[in-house]
Amino acid sequence: MTRIVVTSPIPEPGLDILRTAGELWAWQHDEPIPVDVRDEQLATADAVVTLLNDRVNASFLDAGPNLKVVANVAVGYNNIDVAECERRGVIVTNTPGVLTEATADLAMSLVLMVTRRLGEGDRLIRSGQPWQWGMFMMLGAGLQGAQLGVIGMGAIGQALAARAKAFGMSTVYTNLVSIGAEAEERLGARQVELDELIETSDVVSVNCPYLDETHHLINADVLSRMKPSAFLVNSARGPIVEEAALVAALQDGQIAGAALDVYEHEPSVHPALIELDNVVLLPHLGSATVETRNAMATLAANNVVEVLAGREPLTRVHS
Ligand code: GLV
Repeated sequence: MTRIVVTSPIPEPGLDILRTAGELWAWQHDEPIPVDVRDEQLATADAVVTLLNDRVNASFLDAGPNLKVVANVAVGYNNIDVAECERRGVIVTNTPGVLTEATADLAMSLVLMVTRRLGEGDRLIRSGQPWQWGMFMMLGAGLQGAQLGVIGMGAIGQALAARAKAFGMSTVYTNLVSIGAEAEERLGARQVELDELIETSDVVSVNCPYLDETHHLINADVLSRMKPSAFLVNSARGPIVEEAALVAALQDGQIAGAALDVYEHEPSVHPALIELDNVVLLPHLGSATVETRNAMATLAANNVVEVLAGREPLTRVHS
């Protein structure tokens, strides 16, 4: 009998599909699955559905000698040693596409929150402090005519640029390849070198994958070259930004503010960030809509179905 293991609670539409493909065992509790329970289940599993918190490394794979597929319910897959999976003939899949719009919405929300000081305003009201409308109260930075710098112009970066255009922003971007003249025209976007992006943008948004090459891409040197009036936004992966350097840059007033959905040592957040009013902090909510999470679980489940049927999955990842 084919066995499928799911290491964390996922939406019902995904579970329904998985039930059609084999015997399903799913961890259904909020606390993380204990390693001994997980390994016991992996021992006889043909497929495993994982989330970002699962570290799929050699010891995980040792526990599941019959695994044919690891289906990650996320677009990012830095939690998986894909090369090690490939060495063992285990297929890895992710969930691109279905979360693009939700994640771009969240990235644009971060831009708006930090430039218009929305978190700060919300905290003021909740504090119970007296306040009244004032000509110079809590002034932010307008987006019309401002430049967005997108580091990593994949699907989410492009969807963010489309939103920024609606707010009157122009976009410069860095990417391994050009997005093409048609997309550049449509999005009002121009490809530049990282140096130009960093030095000329009013909002710098991180939208690239987390790889060895992008570890601490945003470091003290980069932050020191941003405009003092500029904002940093990260909705990709925490360790792309050197958090200690970001704290120092914010404390020294080298940049105007930051908005983060992800953290270097997630779920820990650098305590100094919490003290700073010009910083927006969200708990990794990029794809967190009901519709998107259903679609992610459905895609991951369909990937499992395809692999177990001996077919190519819909969205395979390669090292
Ligand atoms: C979330 O962070 C994802 O990679 O899907």
